[in-house]
Amino acid sequence: MKVTVVGAGAVGATCADNIARKELCSELVLVDIKEGVAEGKAMDLMQTATLLGFDTKVIGSTNDYSKTAGTDVAVITSGIPRKPGMTREELIGINAGIVRSVTENILKHSPDAIIVVISNPMDTMTYLALKSSGLPKNRIIGMGGILDSSRFKYYLSTAMGCTATDLQAVVVGGHGDTTMIPLARLATYQGTPVSNYLDAETLKKVVADTMVGGATLTGLLGTSAWYAPGAAGAALVEAIVRDEKKLFPCCVYLDGEYGQKDICIGVPVVIGRKGIEKIIDYKLNEEEQAAFNKSAEAVRSMNAALDSL
Ligand code: 2OP
Repeated sequence: MKVTVVGAGAVGATCADNIARKELCSELVLVDIKEGVAEGKAMDLMQTATLLGFDTKVIGSTNDYSKTAGTDVAVITSGIPRKPGMTREELIGINAGIVRSVTENILKHSPDAIIVVISNPMDTMTYLALKSSGLPKNRIIGMGGILDSSRFKYYLSTAMGCTATDLQAVVVGGHGDTTMIPLARLATYQGTPVSNYLDAETLKKVVADTMVGGATLTGLLGTSAWYAPGAAGAALVEAIVRDEKKLFPCCVYLDGEYGQKDICIGVPVVIGRKGIEKIIDYKLNEEEQAAFNKSAEAVRSMNAALDSL
């Protein structure tokens, strides 16, 4: 199995680190546009191999995509991250050109690759990668919902004083501060509703904190977060290469599911060796569906900005 991670910044390098530690592939290529950075990070990662006990071979490449030939899964993290006070949406102008050309370069050398998009604004970048490549919809997956759901479980666990791994909680909709929808009604603590343990006001705060989870970290760090986004990307790669058939909320192309068409947005899906294998219908109630429709409108208007670039 061969995996490529494009963008050797903090998110890309963390994603590569997780992939190597878990030995998700025999060869892992890290690509970056900045001279020597991917080679340097690859070498640094390889020097952890004996300490951490993995055999994955990590190779760095300064923009030479011939080294990525035969990739099974490619993760795109390239582009500029947001700075404090910026929305993910403000990155569209610069990141659209980058994501389009990275997708092209990957597919030129690996026509069968499954592509995972992490670059922001993620919903629009996923849509762009799909439209510009013409790939079947099962092969382009946006990583946002896994990360947002992980943050949702973190805030829930903090409020409840329990371990986050005992929680099930999902975020659907767009990967934006105002577009994501943490599904509080469906969140459970070992199968029991979290509303048994948290009052409505606390639950509302957990939802609000989750929605600005990325912005909170950007404010603290001065740039976008990387540990959780990198780990979430690696979790997606793991589900694909190990054919796990795992249910994750991901940004995928909808063709009528959840009442939406011609849009990439977060819904629960089953991920396996073919990429997106099934979209799961959570049967949203009226209020949740209305929020989903509103989120889709916001994502759609952001997609429209692609036309003017
Ligand atoms: C985040 O939410 C990078 O969009 C990513 O941290």
